[in-house]
Amino acid sequence: MESELNALLVEAQAAIAAAGNGTDLEALRIRLLGRKEGRLTLVMRRLSELDPADRPRVGQLANRVKNEITAQLEARQANLGQLVPAASPEFDLTLPGRRRWVGSRHLITQTMEEIVGIFVRMGFQEELGPDIEDDWHNFTALNFKPDHPARDAWAGFYLDGGWLLRSHTSPVQIRVMESRPPPVRIVAPGRCYRPDPFDASHSPVFHQVEGLYVDEGVSMAHLKGTLDQFCREYFGPDVRTRLSPSYFPFTEPSAELAASCVICQGTGCPVCKSSGWVELLGCGMVNPSVLRNVGYDPDRYTGYAFGFGVERFAMIKYRIDDIRLIYENDLRFLRQFS
Ligand code: DAH
Repeated sequence: MESELNALLVEAQAAIAAAGNGTDLEALRIRLLGRKEGRLTLVMRRLSELDPADRPRVGQLANRVKNEITAQLEARQANLGQLVPAASPEFDLTLPGRRRWVGSRHLITQTMEEIVGIFVRMGFQEELGPDIEDDWHNFTALNFKPDHPARDAWAGFYLDGGWLLRSHTSPVQIRVMESRPPPVRIVAPGRCYRPDPFDASHSPVFHQVEGLYVDEGVSMAHLKGTLDQFCREYFGPDVRTRLSPSYFPFTEPSAELAASCVICQGTGCPVCKSSGWVELLGCGMVNPSVLRNVGYDPDRYTGYAFGFGVERFAMIKYRIDDIRLIYENDLRFLRQFS
């Protein structure tokens, strides 16, 4: 029986070393040490058949063999545990990790927040107005006469009952002035709607930021200074601006602000059409009739206003040449701004 035990130990050692994975090793453990049918268990059961004089010696040997096998099984188990990742085909430690995708705000939201942030730091208050407007706020109070051709340029999507989707953010000026006395100094970002074709530079849904400052003694110089500072913050410190005459029913005088081309610095590119200047926004001194329409005294108060397209500002800054890219929501495009 002693040689049987020694032979079993040798056999077990070889089998343990050959076990290639945890499953094989566990099967082996059961085959050797299993409580019912384990090879060693069967041998040990026969100890009682021995001569009582031999029993302690053989019993001790059997225990040593059992401990040795157990220790070797454990050692091999630990060893296999370390080997598994490198050896098994389902783990390749050299593969790069999978990045978790984190979403981000849309380019237009980011641009609007950046623009509003600049004005808020200059002392403007953010105001919002409804997307669905009435004729008074979208047109009449802004000094559009009923048959004035200027209404065509701001044509709207009409709803039942005379309502329309606002065609610009200027109606927010009216809502704010109707709701409180001067001074007011507000910026109003928001979505606007016009029945324009969806092409490289137009979208039927787009965004504007409106600005309005009304108080005693507000002048065109304040307007120019504020917009200059805004452009330097948004485009960079080297940008230059210029005003040129324009027309809007709600401002008098009206102007258009252009900036020195941030792309070619005037040397010529498609964005400024080689003129060196890009038109940015409409602005002017609030027309006295508008002040009167909201119950402000135009002999005491003056104000300036401005309004511009958010998409255009984002397109100039990031050299985007087609507005449709902004709305196709192709993640490959959007992620460049996250
Ligand atoms: N509402 C004008 C537009 O949609 C932009 C604008 C021009 C707003 C002049 C103003 C302004 O407040 O003074 O094109």
